Amino acid sequence: MSALVEFRDVGVDYARRGGIVSAVQNVSLTLEENETFGLVGESGCGKTTLSMALMGLLPASARVTGQLMFRGEDLFAMSESEHRRLRGDEVSMVFQDPATSLDATFGIGYQVAETVRAHRQVSRRESKARALELLREVGIPAAESRYSDPPHRLSGGMRQRVVMAAALANDPSLLLADEPTTALDVTIQAQVLDLLAALQRKHGTTILLIAHDLGVVAQICDRVGVMYAGQLVEVAPVGELFAAPRHPYTRALLDALPSRGRRGRALRVIGGQVPDLSHPPAGCRFADRCPHRMDVCATVPPLATSGAERQIACWLDPATRATAGLAPLPDSPTPNPAVPVGDPS
Ligand SMILES: Nc1ncnc2c1ncn2[C@@H]1O[C@H](COP(=O)(O)OP(=O)(O)OP(=O)(O)O)[C@@H](O)[C@H]1O
Ligand code: SF4
Ligand SMILES: [Mg+2]
Repeated sequence: MSALVEFRDVGVDYARRGGIVSAVQNVSLTLEENETFGLVGESGCGKTTLSMALMGLLPASARVTGQLMFRGEDLFAMSESEHRRLRGDEVSMVFQDPATSLDATFGIGYQVAETVRAHRQVSRRESKARALELLREVGIPAAESRYSDPPHRLSGGMRQRVVMAAALANDPSLLLADEPTTALDVTIQAQVLDLLAALQRKHGTTILLIAHDLGVVAQICDRVGVMYAGQLVEVAPVGELFAAPRHPYTRALLDALPSRGRRGRALRVIGGQVPDLSHPPAGCRFADRCPHRMDVCATVPPLATSGAERQIACWLDPATRATAGLAPLPDSPTPNPAVPVGDPS
């Protein structure tokens, strides 16, 4: 595999009346060609900010630092027209709510065909044929007879499939899917995720799947990044993250997942709240909620690489400590001590 996207020490601040919001800090991460990467974390952790940076759609109030490389070119150094070209040719996005992506007044097929025409020099007949092909590919039944249906005649799941058809029109190298299933019920959610996985396999697209929920990313992702309050705190292949989580926040997220063993018992919740990012804590941003915090946690833990595929930012972890030139703790709690954060059971 080779790198398609590289975040190099990326930071994003929003200037707003009354101060600065530090939405993303020190994010270093590589997205490989042909992988499905899941980005998880509670609301307000900076997930959408990272995807908007990739799309070149951050608002004018945003100030970026670091470098964001796409096939070796720094997106932060690109002009608006270069960004537009990239969005046309290489990067597409599927948002949480299909209603915001589709126009209520036009037929679904026409909207997909228009996206095809925006990216390719083709006749109306060819764009219609391609739109029908895409609608069939994403599983719209009787695509021909539904071609002129306006979006409201379709269920939420079917509308999201239409959005995916439009997103695939330019055969993108990178598809950003920001909470694409959050508005859907659980069965439809699973179908849409299966479809995303099938499309990824067929087209070899790199997918960045953003979700609140580790359960969602577990279904289709190869690797997972966990964000907390704008910081990337852990990255691992999905199996390793579930088998041996290393960051206390990742453990707390996993603890909060429903599992067979806990059926019928109250779900664990993570006590406390994500800090206000207009006044973030100086050091580890999880410190207020962490049962393991120590004096050193008042300093930001560096995101350390551990082995070929893991990254971790926690002062408990030998890899982070080694990166900062510190010896491992005598009783480093390697994987899985239960984190009894806010357990109401
Ligand atoms: N345009 C903006 N101006 C000021 N602050 C913003 C802006 N957009 C986002 N923020 C702030 O930046 C932080 C990160 O927000 P972001 O939307 O990236 O988080 P998220 O992880 O996608 O959250 P969610 O899961 O709710 O979608 C939050 O504190 C949010 O309030
Ligand atoms: S750096 Fe400290 S406060 Fe942060 S997660 Fe690790 S032990 Fe907890
Ligand atoms: Mg978001």
